[in-house]
Amino acid sequence: MKRLVVANWKMKKSLAQSVAFAKEIKKVSVRGVDLVVAPSFTALERVSDALKKSTVRVAAQDVSGVAKGSFTGDVSAAMVKEVGAKYVIIGHSERRALHHEQGRNIANKMQQTLAKKLIPILCVGETAAEKAAGRRDAVLVQQIKQATAGLDLHEKTKLVIAYEPVWAIGSGDVVDPYDLEDAWRVIRRAIALRVSSKYFDTQVRFLYGGSVTITNAAPLWALSFVQGFLIGGASLKVKSFATIARMSQ
Ligand code: PGA
Repeated sequence: MKRLVVANWKMKKSLAQSVAFAKEIKKVSVRGVDLVVAPSFTALERVSDALKKSTVRVAAQDVSGVAKGSFTGDVSAAMVKEVGAKYVIIGHSERRALHHEQGRNIANKMQQTLAKKLIPILCVGETAAEKAAGRRDAVLVQQIKQATAGLDLHEKTKLVIAYEPVWAIGSGDVVDPYDLEDAWRVIRRAIALRVSSKYFDTQVRFLYGGSVTITNAAPLWALSFVQGFLIGGASLKVKSFATIARMSQ
């Protein structure tokens, strides 16, 4: 599977800044890695238009768990697809913490995303307190179990799983490679129980996220099981985003 680097701009770029980034990244060549940018909903259409003749894809940062109806403020999978999104970030820790997203709600978002043939980027990860209590593995297994409950995952369903320890996001702290491998193993096993290990190995791209920068990306890329990154802060500038992606070669 091709490696993948995703820029999560959160609520940090205006429409003009998002389009400017798209126009610039288009000119940058990064071989052997899929690039995805996740702008705010308001910039999705213009960014997808700006990236039309490029291989860079667009992701929504969230999606509704229902298809249609009286849900003020929500945006459906059909709507993000209509404006050019190919991926959807689901269950980011900021949404879990600030919007109380969990369990069934996340599974519904996964279901809606897959129903529209969009690729989910499912975020999982433990908090500092859960890590300190030795609960990381249990948390990861539960998050995977809940997010995939009732889903018809089969050998053709493309899925991206981003392991993002909450304590590593925006903190400057990066996961230790041994811990990352352990987390990967736990996630792989959870998916194997749900579908199969072959499914994980052939259809699931495993990303790491949490304070990835140009200074710490090299040793992480060196880990064979790491297929890419979900990047926040270091994805805001074309230069650092593209440099991190290029470091995979
Ligand atoms: P960060 O954010 O790279 O700024 O730590 C990652 C994320 O929240 O996805």
